[in-house]
Amino acid sequence: MRRLFPQPAPSGDAATAPACTTDSAAAAAGPAGEPAPPARTVGPSGPPWPLEELADAYAYPAAAGPDAPGGPVPWLRGNMVASLDGAAHHQGRSQPLSSDADMRVFGVLRALADAVVVGAETVRQEGYRPARAREAFAARRAAAGQGPAPAVAVVSAGLDLDFSLPLFTEPLVPTLVLTGAAAPADRQAAARAAGAVVVHAGEGTGVDPARVPGVLARHGHTRLLTEGGPRLLGQFAAAGVLDELCLTVSPRITVGNASRIVAGPGLAVPAEYELISLLEEDGFLFTRYRRAGTAATG
Ligand SMILES: NC(=O)c1ccc[n+]([C@@H]2O[C@H](COP(=O)([O-])OP(=O)(O)OC[C@H]3O[C@@H](n4cnc5c(N)ncnc54)[C@H](OP(=O)(O)O)[C@@H]3O)[C@@H](O)[C@H]2O)c1
Repeated sequence: MRRLFPQPAPSGDAATAPACTTDSAAAAAGPAGEPAPPARTVGPSGPPWPLEELADAYAYPAAAGPDAPGGPVPWLRGNMVASLDGAAHHQGRSQPLSSDADMRVFGVLRALADAVVVGAETVRQEGYRPARAREAFAARRAAAGQGPAPAVAVVSAGLDLDFSLPLFTEPLVPTLVLTGAAAPADRQAAARAAGAVVVHAGEGTGVDPARVPGVLARHGHTRLLTEGGPRLLGQFAAAGVLDELCLTVSPRITVGNASRIVAGPGLAVPAEYELISLLEEDGFLFTRYRRAGTAATG
């Protein structure tokens, strides 16, 4: 993997020096004057980065952590993969668009999160399982005041979910079911009976996307990751609560009529995001965009 943006800081270490760049201290600068990260541009893509280094590269803003002065403020990050022609899935699954490096980033983003927010259709289509504890991140999570694995928060109105699945019955930390107060009462009871925590974030059957970060924060989850799908992500973006988007651009073309990474009614004015990081491995681009006007990442 190599960093393409911000331009890597020059390194005196020949083993990690860029193969064919003309980096200089003057050229090494991050977005909005932030310090440039260390050089990591060996060869065309270079070997995979150590997980620790990848985790550092994707750290949540300090303001979302427990040590934030005045208390943590929720930060909602999305992680999606899209084909070159904009498809968010191929034949209903995102796996055909992914790669080893993409799955590594996916795993690191999960390992950094307090909670993973996902739409019910993605749970149904992708056969979601509970997030697992990973030894490689145990110390980092403990130091960050996090449990062994992120909670999964499933967003649903109809609650047509199989509550006998391990996602609900066997998680390390209880799975949350985010729904509306008027969602079917028998299905809410079934979720609770399976061990899930039912959380209301709307007065009707559905969830008000704008309320999700605050509601999850009240449950102790401020470092938030949404893995979509497109209909849920579209609502977060439209509600103005998607602080960051980690979009993998997959070097594949699918044609067909698969959804884009966001779906739903168009915005009157496009929301603006600014590039804060760009990594590359094997032709896959790992972009990281921050909503314009939000605080700097840390
Ligand atoms: N490319 C990627 O990175 C990526 C990531 C994730 C998913 N995907 C793909 O995307 C597809 C699924 O995405 P999708 O857009 O169809 O569905 P989705 O966003 O995953 O889920 C939609 C469902 O979420 C629930 N939901 C959404 N908004 C809600 C709200 N405001 N209140 C209450 N419930 C709400 C509803 O569930 P109920 O019907 O239960 O009420 C709705 O049917 C799959 O093919 C998957 O492979 C791709």
